[in-house]
Amino acid sequence: MTAQTSKVVLSLDAKEVDSLKDGVNFKKNPSDGKCYIIYKSSGGFKACKNQCKHQGGVFIKDIEDLDSRTVKCIKHNWKLNISSMKYVNPPDSFQQDELGKMSERHILFSR
Ligand code: FES
Repeated sequence: MTAQTSKVVLSLDAKEVDSLKDGVNFKKNPSDGKCYIIYKSSGGFKACKNQCKHQGGVFIKDIEDLDSRTVKCIKHNWKLNISSMKYVNPPDSFQQDELGKMSERHILFSR
């Protein structure tokens, strides 16, 4: 059995990093079409797959979210707080898996 190695799933160059806005950002990996959500704050960046833990739905911007932290699943309206990676609706339910971060300037997220 081989040891699990981390694999880069999303790579952003310095220009793309600069274009991220504070709060929630949606990004697609152009090479495989997979979608990710990146959260930018003064504390740095967090990212996760854009895939709901319930039944794999896709998250979109939550229009009721005024501070750009929460996204909403299109399937059954579960909500995820990206700043904490916790599902807020249903409350106290799941935790979203956060991608590992490999560098600040040239962001490489891995899993
Ligand atoms: S798949 Fe996301 S709420 Fe059901």
